[in-house]
Amino acid sequence: MKRVTQIKILKELMDQLDRKKNIDAGCQLKNPTASYVNRELADREWTEFFRTHPQMVGLSGDLPRPGSYLTLQDFGVPILATRDKKGVFHAFLNACRHRGTRLTSEQCGEQEHFVCPFHNWTYKNTGELVGIAREQDFGNIDRTQFGLIELPSAEKHGLLWVHPDPNGNLDPELLLGELGPEIESWNLSQQVFTDESILNKNLNWKLANDTFGETYHFTRLHKNTVSRIFYGDALAYETFGRNHRFCFPTRGIDTLRTKPETEWRMDTGAAVVYYLFPNIQLVPSEKQITLFRIYPDPNDPSRSTTRIRQYFSPSILESIDEAKASGRPVIDASTVYDPDSRGGGSIFGPDASREVFISTLDQEDYSMGESTQRVAEAGVLKHLIFGRNEPALHHFHATFRDALNLPPLEQIQEP
Ligand code: FES
Ligand SMILES: [Fe+2]
Repeated sequence: MKRVTQIKILKELMDQLDRKKNIDAGCQLKNPTASYVNRELADREWTEFFRTHPQMVGLSGDLPRPGSYLTLQDFGVPILATRDKKGVFHAFLNACRHRGTRLTSEQCGEQEHFVCPFHNWTYKNTGELVGIAREQDFGNIDRTQFGLIELPSAEKHGLLWVHPDPNGNLDPELLLGELGPEIESWNLSQQVFTDESILNKNLNWKLANDTFGETYHFTRLHKNTVSRIFYGDALAYETFGRNHRFCFPTRGIDTLRTKPETEWRMDTGAAVVYYLFPNIQLVPSEKQITLFRIYPDPNDPSRSTTRIRQYFSPSILESIDEAKASGRPVIDASTVYDPDSRGGGSIFGPDASREVFISTLDQEDYSMGESTQRVAEAGVLKHLIFGRNEPALHHFHATFRDALNLPPLEQIQEP
């Protein structure tokens, strides 16, 4: 992120904290609860946003070496993603060309060839068909015509993209727009994958996304957890087409006030979250990245899956190892909300991060969302309200509705 943007955001957040006045979206909106339960709408979303729309599937660190591969089946088309020996990223339909069997059911690993478990046809990680068992019995096959079905794929700014349609158009520059250079500046490609958590919950995928749409709830819902690290009721927010940047202050912002601007660091004073249409929440910093991918259940609008992957910079992972070896403290899940543990150069590692970003989401945020989902299903409450201080909710719902040619949300006339 450009230095001038960082300073602007930090100043804006300080100003909001000083004035005790959160961001103002300019109006309140009515959001129909039906949008979380309507099956016809859910079918349209699945088709338009997942089956026929480019998908951001991970970071470069998910395929760390030549020969690395991973599989995905979150958006209806089974994917085998590989990195070949030249380091090039590929995406294929995870299906053998003989009888369509899934080529591998492993989540990830390293191998240059894939042998189909059914009759042992063999493919390279570049997709070529290189082996047919008992070809003298099967009959001759033009191997050049029966490689794995390759899907459009792109690795850009440290992000991995796939289009589930072999004829689909995939252009990350177009998808990121003006945010592209800023995303690039976080050096995502250097980060090392550490762990994944999967939350299968009873709430619509949009309701899961809504969790990331405001800081108004921090000091209420999260008063004993996240609120000890971040300030609520302050938000620097900007939209970029269908995407957005959402920044909120950490408690560390207070330490910047006594320092010259040249020493201000974004990591010390604010957290940054990018929403990338349709289902990505990306939380980058200099030291770590947390990537949330939120998927609907195509058979049930009231269910969704959130995949959360953590990545850390190699230097932080080294520091953690060194600290553990020398008996210095590393902040973990049990100490992360203890203010005393965060001073003195203690290191914030994957366990602490998982507690802040994942346990809280699971136990506090999604618990609220699941209760809203039950109310939406009952059908008695017809609308929810998005306040002036919830601009990301305005944008997310306006965006998805516009993409489906639905009428915009209705404004509420304030008394
Ligand atoms: S289905 Fe793969 S080899 Fe037969
Ligand atoms: Fe929350």
